[in-house]
Amino acid sequence: MPTSPLPWNRIALVLAIVLAMLVALLLGYAFTRSDGGSSSVTGKALVGGPFELVNQNGETVTNQDFLGQNLLIYFGFTFCPDICPTELAKMTAAIDMLPEGANVTPIFITIDPERDGVEEVKTYVEAFHPNMVGLTGTPDQIDTAAKAYRVYYAKNESGGSADYLMDHSSIIYFMDTEGEFVAHFTIDSTPEEIAERVRKEL
Ligand code: NI
Repeated sequence: MPTSPLPWNRIALVLAIVLAMLVALLLGYAFTRSDGGSSSVTGKALVGGPFELVNQNGETVTNQDFLGQNLLIYFGFTFCPDICPTELAKMTAAIDMLPEGANVTPIFITIDPERDGVEEVKTYVEAFHPNMVGLTGTPDQIDTAAKAYRVYYAKNESGGSADYLMDHSSIIYFMDTEGEFVAHFTIDSTPEEIAERVRKEL
């Protein structure tokens, strides 16, 4: 007796329905997850925090010393051949677009404390803006500050010479007068965009 042929049409239909249900389940799960995720970040962003560093005049300063000032913060290193100077010049240009005396302090924090001492940082920031604050510190102090701002950095010795470069994330952080994160800007942001966003907080 030949067995009755399998009803392939029906099997395919059932499989299609099961598959569709699985996809729907997964999508529902994903949306639930993302809803949960977004509602959990309606609070303050986890950028910024306590730090203790040394300014370009050799004075120890902490994050508390900057309360009351809006800040544009950039982490980089003075030996950086291209990105850091570009981004700091952009920060300076943005500040110069704001009204005279606007309450915004540009800050440069080195992630290369081995080479960037107080003197190096002082010379460097003076080249960008008269109000720019330059901060350095011990490797531990720098590490604490970088971690607070979710900044990635690492020594890159692939060049093989005694001189090394630093790999580092390139983000300008905009913090308000209470030390809370407001916005960040990337290498794609223009001085106009930065100035426009900052102006809203003044
Ligand atoms: Ni750089």
